[in-house]
Amino acid sequence: MITLQGVSKQYYMGEVVINALDYVNLSIERGEFISIMGPSGSGKSTLLNILGVLDLPTEGSYFLEGVDITHLDDRELARIRNRHFGFIFQSYNLFPELNALENVMVPLTYAGRPKSERIKRAKELLDMVAMSHRLKHFPNQLSGGEQQRVAIARALANNPTLLLADEPTGNLASDQSDEIMELLCDLNHKGTTIVIVTHDPHISSFGKRLVRLQDGKIVSDTPVEEQVDAERRSGA
Ligand SMILES: Nc1ncnc2c1ncn2[C@@H]1O[C@H](COP(=O)(O)OP(=O)(O)OP(=O)(O)O)[C@@H](O)[C@H]1O
Ligand SMILES: [Mg+2]
Repeated sequence: MITLQGVSKQYYMGEVVINALDYVNLSIERGEFISIMGPSGSGKSTLLNILGVLDLPTEGSYFLEGVDITHLDDRELARIRNRHFGFIFQSYNLFPELNALENVMVPLTYAGRPKSERIKRAKELLDMVAMSHRLKHFPNQLSGGEQQRVAIARALANNPTLLLADEPTGNLASDQSDEIMELLCDLNHKGTTIVIVTHDPHISSFGKRLVRLQDGKIVSDTPVEEQVDAERRSGA
């Protein structure tokens, strides 16, 4: 689905060059659930932003379904972003002046669907993340875990090819973060491809594949042997 080939990202700070990513090769197949770990500053968010086409590499190629997208213009990139990617952030990033239902309707509005259909679809999405009982609540009237569930519903609104999450449980207590991770596992079983950045080894073990970054380089890329989810399903 996605292949990064020799992807580097440099930031220029006056005279200083920062190699945030240094010749990264990475392929992602449909249905995968990948955790990205690494020390602070190792390039995790940079990699996630490039995967989600929020940012472009300085060097290297990004193939999406076989097409190198690094030469496309901003409009085409925006279209690809809206069509293929859903984002979840540590700070939820909900619109504070919109209630839960309205937040989930935002991406559907961009997609130009009629209002009745948008409401119906947003309700289905909120039902999927067990938030049907809080449709009219504003973000400041919801718990952190509830806000993140709304954010996940919003990220799924346009059926993204890939769901990207940067420290999605970073602000949550452990019981709430497990709930969020179980929700992501569930979505992955239903077919959503997921890439998540985390500092937490417990969180990373919900994934099926673990990529470790250090100094902008991939230093390991292995299957997760003791998947939390697999343990649970086998009744352990
Ligand atoms: N816009 C920018 N301008 C200059 N340098 C940047 C910029 N964004 C990131 N960097 C630098 O690039 C490197 C990688 O940053 P990145 O945010 O990807 O790290 P990270 O692994 O996500 O860290 P953390 O775990 O702290 O979130 C860091 O050294 C950072 O200081
Ligand atoms: Mg980061």
